[in-house]
Amino acid sequence: MQKTPRTFKYIDNNAFIGGVKIQQLIEKFKTPLYVLDQKTIEENCQHFMDPLKKNYPNSEVLYAGKANLNIAIAQLINSLGLSLDVSSGGELYTAIKAKVSPEKIYFHGNNKTHEELELALDYGVTVMLDNLQELENIIKLHTSAKLISIIIRLKPEIDAHTHKYIRTGQLDSKFGIDRKQAYEIIKKIVDHPKLKLAGIHSHIGSQIFDKAPFFELIDILVPYIKQIKDEFGIELEVLNCGGGMGIYYSDKDNPLQITEFITDFCLKLKEKCHQEKIALPKLLFEPGRSIVGSAGITLYKVGAIKEIEGIKTYLFVDGGMADNPRPILYQAKHVFGTVIKRNKITKKYSIAGKFCESGDILAENISLEEVNVGDYIIVFATGAYNYSMASNYNRNCRPAMVLVANKKAKVIVKRESYGDLTRLDIEI
Ligand code: LLP
Repeated sequence: MQKTPRTFKYIDNNAFIGGVKIQQLIEKFKTPLYVLDQKTIEENCQHFMDPLKKNYPNSEVLYAGKANLNIAIAQLINSLGLSLDVSSGGELYTAIKAKVSPEKIYFHGNNKTHEELELALDYGVTVMLDNLQELENIIKLHTSAKLISIIIRLKPEIDAHTHKYIRTGQLDSKFGIDRKQAYEIIKKIVDHPKLKLAGIHSHIGSQIFDKAPFFELIDILVPYIKQIKDEFGIELEVLNCGGGMGIYYSDKDNPLQITEFITDFCLKLKEKCHQEKIALPKLLFEPGRSIVGSAGITLYKVGAIKEIEGIKTYLFVDGGMADNPRPILYQAKHVFGTVIKRNKITKKYSIAGKFCESGDILAENISLEEVNVGDYIIVFATGAYNYSMASNYNRNCRPAMVLVANKKAKVIVKRESYGDLTRLDIEI
């Protein structure tokens, strides 16, 4: 089970990542700082790609950009042979800027605006259809001669056991079309000369540790492909099984071994298709967290230590809920460490951020090696859903992001400045 980025280690009590001394990263780029380990991202991609190549070559892995997207990450992902799942005009624009070709982009969203749809239709990406209104909007806006590929997002009606905010497969979810209603939509697409029904998609939720709900998806979607074949005489080419594979954040997490899981999944899918007598569809997965989550760390400086006698000791850091909203949103847990190991005494700390919100606590009563004001601490597994959900609360600047590989560090997102914060303001 991967607990720290692949290349993270202590040498002579100094933490290193990607062959770079973390203390040097701090001196050069300041804190708070997001650091991404390229090697971990590469290996996480291989965990999906290698077993697919071996067991199910007609497949594609889409990185879910919502986990963490900028031009450099899109370029890296593209160079590693993955495609991209985008879920807003902004993510799509980032992918276009990174020169990801349209056939490698899949556009999600439950309420795509007309402007977003126009951009998607113009660039010629595959649209992941969420509802009937969206289809009507596409038909109205699609004026060119291009053939637009559509994959419909179905509600699998599987209740995955994860935090209620990140469950998406159940019937009352805001995402997707329920299987009964999908017939009307399928008919409309099939009858339209400039639309192509490429396949179906389902995503059951996020941070899932159990294989069972993924396997259940096969039992639901493959017979559904068969039903569509019987009803409309078309055999869908693509089966997209979403993302959602959980990662290790703390000791309560027991993630799937991806290589083994994918291998088992392919076997089960092949069996089910054989049983239902349908041709093997192209298999797509769209993981986000399991590609970048474990690759990221956040570095903070300890600005003050406040001891409340007999109750707790707060350790104040120079970031918090605005750069990592997961603890306040989902009660997420993290592992913490120090940049330099000075002594072996551990103490209990509550790690609090600098934002004006009592809930801005990154961890309650955790054991950490004793630190002093001015020391630096590390939070592990912050590569996913940290920067992408970061805010400027209290008019704080969002941190920079650095990519490390082969003993080199490169800034891939600059630190915001006060000028950036007021850039869009207009005086009265
Ligand atoms: N595909 C679809 C359609 C999705 O909605 C998502 C995530 C993914 C793929 C990627 O899921 P992943 O492999 O990253 O679990 N902010 C929350 C997570 C929200 C996930 C939204 N959808 C968090 O920080 O836990």
